[in-house]
Amino acid sequence: MKILVTGGLGFIGSHTVVELQKKGFEVVIIDDCSNASENVLKGITAITGITPHFEKIDLKEREKVQSFFKKYKDIAGVIHFAASKAVGESVEKPLLYYENNIGTLVYLLKELSHQQRSCFIFSSSCTVYGQADNMPITEDAPVKPAESPYGNTKQIGEEIIRDTCRVTPNLNAIALRYFNPMGAHPSTEIGELPIGVPQNLVPFITQTGVGLREQLSVFGDDYPTEDGTCIRDYIYVVDLAIAHVKALQRLLKGENTDNYEVFNLGTGKGSSVLEVIESFERVSGQKLNYKIVDRRPGDIVKAYADTTRANEVLGWKSQYTLDQAMKSAWDWERKIRN
Ligand code: UD1
Repeated sequence: MKILVTGGLGFIGSHTVVELQKKGFEVVIIDDCSNASENVLKGITAITGITPHFEKIDLKEREKVQSFFKKYKDIAGVIHFAASKAVGESVEKPLLYYENNIGTLVYLLKELSHQQRSCFIFSSSCTVYGQADNMPITEDAPVKPAESPYGNTKQIGEEIIRDTCRVTPNLNAIALRYFNPMGAHPSTEIGELPIGVPQNLVPFITQTGVGLREQLSVFGDDYPTEDGTCIRDYIYVVDLAIAHVKALQRLLKGENTDNYEVFNLGTGKGSSVLEVIESFERVSGQKLNYKIVDRRPGDIVKAYADTTRANEVLGWKSQYTLDQAMKSAWDWERKIRN
């Protein structure tokens, strides 16, 4: 079966392509390479022995999207990763984010709604919950006003899909709300490649570990948590990739009970910033240079997932520990800096 993966050269996309190929799916990638390199294809091929089809297309170019679907008439499902994802940049350039993340979603859904039956997986985020009132966070927790245009594109994206599904019975969609993805493939053939100074914790830690950054700033140690630092649910990217395959299979087999479903993807376990640093120190055998600084505006105190729905309905559960995920991130960082 042929599966389209948009943004398939990106961090989560590339790991998902590998897991799809391992299950025998034929993968077609669309990527505009704005935040990823064609070299990722080599990494994927090195792991699975199969080079996915690749079309360099910017999804904003609607005619190209239309031609794509004319060329590949037999796409059985779409996993849609392609999106801009820098929170800070989205505040500076909101229209860029709405055009990239919302405009392209609308084009894709228009194409899919013409098909006899289509399956669509959407990359959403735990950011839709904001600071949830209860931990762990279930899918029924209310969606809170977004803190950034980026976060808003995830909320609006979910709404667009939900509304479209309501009037398009042949469209079957699942939104996956990721908590904090981290790590790299154990082969170190593919991993995270942040451009410039990383905004996310784990790549900042590993870059500090290899000496590319002098010091990690820990944003606040006066939060109402045990050690005073914020708590997140760090989920290994390979676990996350496997969940995409399970969600897709659910739709392809017609096992979904509604034509629009939502799942949290996390480990169910919260870790503080200091615990993540300790994990790095354990797996790398070296001390990390860090200092405590002021809080970062917009950060929430705590977010970790209730994963019961994904466990029971998708038959999926994260398998890797924080240390295993951290070890993969560290191995990857050292490989790409050599
Ligand atoms: C961030 C985004 C979120 C996005 C997610 C993708 C914000 C406000 N949120 O989530 O929308 O979906 O990434 O992975 O940017 N930290 C430090 N020092 C650092 C970097 C981070 O102490 O240099 C702390 C943060 O304060 C936070 C934790 O580490 O407590 C995780 O931060 P980060 O990796 O940026 O993820 P989120 O903020 O959870």
